[in-house]
Amino acid sequence: MAQIKTVGVLGAGLMGHGIAQVSADAGFEVVLREVDEEHLTKGLGRIEKQLSRAVEKGRIEQSGADALRGRIAGTTQYGELADCDLVIEAITENLPLKLEMWREVDEIVKPDALFATNTSSLPVINQAAVTNRAERFFGLHFFNPAQVMKLVEVVKCVTTSDEALAAGVAFAKQLGKLTVQTKDKAGFIVNRLLVPYMLDAIRAYEEGVGSIEEIDAAMKAGAAHPMGPLTLADFVGLDTLGSICDVMFDEFRERRFAQPPTLRKLLAAGWYGKKSGKGFYEYRGEEPVANPGI
Ligand SMILES: NC(=O)c1ccc[n+]([C@@H]2O[C@H](COP(=O)([O-])OP(=O)(O)OC[C@H]3O[C@@H](n4cnc5c(N)ncnc54)[C@H](O)[C@@H]3O)[C@@H](O)[C@H]2O)c1
Repeated sequence: MAQIKTVGVLGAGLMGHGIAQVSADAGFEVVLREVDEEHLTKGLGRIEKQLSRAVEKGRIEQSGADALRGRIAGTTQYGELADCDLVIEAITENLPLKLEMWREVDEIVKPDALFATNTSSLPVINQAAVTNRAERFFGLHFFNPAQVMKLVEVVKCVTTSDEALAAGVAFAKQLGKLTVQTKDKAGFIVNRLLVPYMLDAIRAYEEGVGSIEEIDAAMKAGAAHPMGPLTLADFVGLDTLGSICDVMFDEFRERRFAQPPTLRKLLAAGWYGKKSGKGFYEYRGEEPVANPGI
């Protein structure tokens, strides 16, 4: 299998910008593609902000930050991905969108390149099957923030060759990540366990077991979690969480994966969590405050 030198990343949102940054940090050349200049500038801006913070804190030299940033080329054109050795998608969690994107990208990118999806919940095989390289397609599931979180779930779908899977594992290890291989089942390992937990926290709130702050404070202090489940839902993005629930409910037909009414209401209001400034909390001032509108 050809050596990976250039990595294409699709989507510069919450996950894509982080995957681009860790890949460039590990020395790979990166081509980062977004739908338009506005989204691209926002994603690149996030990377630049984190690099300046790292320089300020003395974690990296200015020259190192410049070199890392220099390895990331932003684009809105699929054509720029043509010579990539590995393409990782981190676009919106929506199967029709992902399929439309892969059909186009598969025509452009060199035939021996590897393809990977960062999907949180969609079965990998559905995406692999629309490409002409289903044996070189696998899941690389990073966690948020990708710059910090150690784990990458590597997902083998029924068509993935052992060689391609090994290349995926080796790539994630080169990024300094811990890899765990999982089967191609909606939610893989982490979301299979974590999503029902976040949904139960929302149901506990609906039943009046505790307030938003009380539920979060209890799980932080009582279970030594770094953040409470409702803060975590806001960080994941409530739109992404809603899509994951729908995929998992569709797959397993179990109530524990169904969207609770409060989540539906927040989504209908356009409150997607931290990234939109409002979710279970409002993120306007120094400290988040529980959203009084819920
Ligand atoms: N949010 C999380 O905690 C998390 C964790 C792991 C995996 N994921 C998965 O990563 C993927 C992205 O999630 P996110 O949270 O970064 O979403 P996001 O909404 O923050 O970002 C998605 C980005 O994709 C862009 N996009 C849409 N179509 C595109 C295309 N054809 N080409 C290039 N860019 C395109 C959008 O403009 C948007 O900026 C989803 O599949 C999600 O399930 C999310």
